[in-house]
Amino acid sequence: MHLPPHLPRRFIDRTVVVAGAAGGIGAAICSRFAAEGARVVTTDVNAKGAAETVARILADGGKARALASDIAAPEGCAAIIGDVIATEGRIDVLCNNAGINRRGDLLSLTPEDWRLSFAVNLDAMFHLCRAALPHMIAAGGGAIVNTASQWGLHPAPGHIAYYVTQAAVASFTQNLARDHASQQIRVNAVCPGEIHTPMLEAGVKRAGRSIADLDRLVPLGRIGRPGEVAALVAFLASEEAAFICGSLVEITGARAVA
Ligand SMILES: NC(=O)c1ccc[n+]([C@@H]2O[C@H](COP(=O)([O-])OP(=O)(O)OC[C@H]3O[C@@H](n4cnc5c(N)ncnc54)[C@H](O)[C@@H]3O)[C@@H](O)[C@H]2O)c1
Repeated sequence: MHLPPHLPRRFIDRTVVVAGAAGGIGAAICSRFAAEGARVVTTDVNAKGAAETVARILADGGKARALASDIAAPEGCAAIIGDVIATEGRIDVLCNNAGINRRGDLLSLTPEDWRLSFAVNLDAMFHLCRAALPHMIAAGGGAIVNTASQWGLHPAPGHIAYYVTQAAVASFTQNLARDHASQQIRVNAVCPGEIHTPMLEAGVKRAGRSIADLDRLVPLGRIGRPGEVAALVAFLASEEAAFICGSLVEITGARAVA
């Protein structure tokens, strides 16, 4: 994982939980927090991938452990937070980053595609936040950073289940922030445009396109890198963002999709 030199150490003695830690963006988020001194708990339904994220962090001298869990099941979410509190004794930052993209319009999607998109992309956030919030409130505060999408803010054709769940994540973020800001819980979301990850590559291949085709659509000249999203997530979770709460921050290279 490529990290810039001379990183700040904003998360020493902090416990950070990252859901979707095996994926492109999630692995980068984990590495970033670990490099800044956090104890990182990686969780993903892909146990091998979450363990690989941990192995990379440990090899770099960071602190991390893996928890395999399917967050499509509410009990999986409760088990993650229960384990973290039992083991680490606290949770300072929760990154809800897991996601699936069931591609297609209304007629090509199945009811199961629709249900699973909501279960993973939105409902899991509800269950993880619901389990984590009482501990954050008891500790005097905490930060939640959700991964939404630029396409949750600007409707586009073709992937209705994904886009509607991302719009719901944006709304969930703003509403949760308003409900709990007075308890010093800061909730924000990052809304990436296209970022070069396995999820994106799979979609690009299926559509018969290349990464270079996507690069050409971005005014900055290229799509984003996972580490760039991770840097934004870490900033939003840090004390430097102490007055940022209920914000949806786009990270897109100025690409307009609407
Ligand atoms: N890559 C992009 O261009 C892009 C753009 C905007 C938003 N996003 C969002 O960023 C996040 C990460 O995307 P990515 O590109 O790194 O994708 P990815 O597919 O590489 O990572 C997603 C991770 O979520 C995990 N996951 C899926 N279902 C799960 C479940 N039931 N329980 C636990 N974990 C589960 C996967 O195993 C995977 O590791 C997603 O929420 C995605 O919607 C990505």
